[in-house]
Parts: sequence; structure tokens; C-alpha cells
Amino acid sequence: TVGLSKAMRQRGRSFIGTALTLRGDAQELAIVENKADFNSITPENAQKWDATEPQRGVFTFDDSDRYVDFATEHGIQIHCHNLVWHSQLPNWVTAGNFDNETLIEIMHDHIKALAGRYKGRCTRWDVVNEALEEDGSYRKSVWYNTIGEAFLPLAFKFASQVDPKAQLYYNDYNLEYNGAKTDAAQRIVKLIQSQGVKINGVGFQAHLTSEPTTSSGGGVTPSQNTLATALRKMTSQDVDVVYTEIDVRMNTPATRKKLNMQSKAYQRIAASCLAVERCVGMTIWGISDKYSWIPGVFPGEGAANLWDEDFKKKPAYYGFLRGI
Ligand code: XIL
Repeated sequence: TVGLSKAMRQRGRSFIGTALTLRGDAQELAIVENKADFNSITPENAQKWDATEPQRGVFTFDDSDRYVDFATEHGIQIHCHNLVWHSQLPNWVTAGNFDNETLIEIMHDHIKALAGRYKGRCTRWDVVNEALEEDGSYRKSVWYNTIGEAFLPLAFKFASQVDPKAQLYYNDYNLEYNGAKTDAAQRIVKLIQSQGVKINGVGFQAHLTSEPTTSSGGGVTPSQNTLATALRKMTSQDVDVVYTEIDVRMNTPATRKKLNMQSKAYQRIAASCLAVERCVGMTIWGISDKYSWIPGVFPGEGAANLWDEDFKKKPAYYGFLRGI
């Protein structure tokens, strides 16, 4: 059978990606290196602030370099992740009590160093990650609390100056339900554009469920139509969209019935992307259930990926492929 990324390119779209942690697992690496399924990677943690600037002005790029080199060596895309976020942000930033001017300088220095190091090599950059609350108001992060909403256009302006060729994305979760948070993401796109600053796309993380779970508050993966409507809210603003971090979790243990429901959820996610012309690609948040972040963060939930813990393709793999 034709692999995921091959199928996607046959449909005229750009990529299917996976989050990657280089941990020396030969089975996992073989799937990425064979390239039939994935032609893009997103470093799972290596480019985050705590990994790249643990102290002010002290930059540690060794781990991040491995991913950018990996993508270059294999001739695949790299979705660089991320420049400005409230999480995995060291204490020296969050508890530093910096004034507006100093925090802007700190953000600028970080973007110059990190995006500058990989200039011309990142296919896309998640410039700002998760700036919104569920009700569509801004998250009260150190960025928003100190700089106000201006931190968003500023971050995009700095990134576009440093790496003019990278596609610049705003990235968030729970945009898939076409609710208040979706509208707020559309407002962020408009805000950035209204200042004459470049934004190329919106990333829909798509951390979803195939059945109601404690952490989903009763929600499940929306219909293909709702998903596509949410995507179109962004493309109507003349930007691209990407699913950036797809996983579809369930209450564990998995059963055959649950795996079939999950397969259908994956299928409608893929189909929603294909239904929207400017949905250029999709990234799954990891390869095997063995290493997924879900059980560690949402206890009792998991089995969210396309390969099981023994690296066997799940029904979800074939459902996702059918959706492409
Ligand atoms: C997760 C990683 O998968 C974990 O390994 C890490 O411990 C926490 O972060 N939204 C994002 C990703 O943008 O960076 C997160 O990745 C998952 C949620």
C-alpha cells in the first residue's frame, strides 16, 4: 500500500509529519527514515525555551541541531516548534519580573538566536503557541500580562525579520470545535495582518478524543463538517492551515470497538483537511503509543497514535489513510 505522505502528495498537498524524539529506537527510526509515511518532522521538545535558553543569554542548541540536521540529511521538511509559549518556559523568564521593554528585548533576543540559527532551514515555525483560553480571552501568561496582545504581532515581526523564508504559524489546541476559541484565533490572524506583519498560517493541534473522557469534558472529535468549517474560518483570512499535533486518545485499555471508533475519528480529521484547499499538511504527535505523552498527562487515557506499542499499524492508520 501507498504510505501516508505519498498519498498526501498524490492529492497535491505538501506533507504528512510526525513529532519526533531522537531516542535511538530502531523501529521508530525505521518508520521515519523510510519516508513513505512521513516527509516532515516536528521536534517534540528540543527547540522549546527551557531546552534552548535555560539562562538568559545562554543558548544550548546541541539537541535542537540534531533534529534540523536529521531533516536536512533525509531531505524532509521540519516544522520548527516553538518560539514563544507560556509552558516549558524557564523560571528566569516567568518569575523575572521584567518590565515591558525588557521582556520584549528578551523575546527578541530569543527569536534572533533560535530562528536565526536555522535561517532558511525551517519549513514552518510555530511563532506563538497557545495564547488563548477556552472562552477566547487571552491566556494570562507572562507575555500577555507584561506586554499585552502586542506580544503577538511583535513575535511575528521579529520572526519574519530573522527568517524571511520560513512559513510563520500561530498554533493552538481546541480550535477544532468551531467555538469561541476558534473565533479568537481568527482575531489573532486579523490583528497581526492589520499591523502589516506576516503570518502564513494557523496550526490546529488536534489533541482530540474518540470517546468522552474526563479530560475532554464530554467532547469527542467533531464531525468532518465542523472541522472543515473551523479550518475555513482561518483560510478566509488568506492564510494556510495545518493540523500540527494530531492524536486521538481514549479511555484505556483499548478494545477492538474503541479502536474502530478511533479509526473513524482519524478518517474525518484527514477528510476535513482534504476538503479545504489551503490545508497544506498534517502532523501526528508521535508514531507509536509506546512513547505518547498522553498517559503521562491524562491518567487513564491513551492509545492515541497510529502504531501500537509493538509498532503494529492500528485501524487508525488505515482510517487516516482512507481520509486522505
Ligand atoms: C508535549 C510533549 O509531547 C511532551 O513530551 C512534553 O513533556 C510536554 O509537551 N502542545 C504542544 C506540544 O504544543 O509542545 C506539547 O508537547 C503537547 C501540547
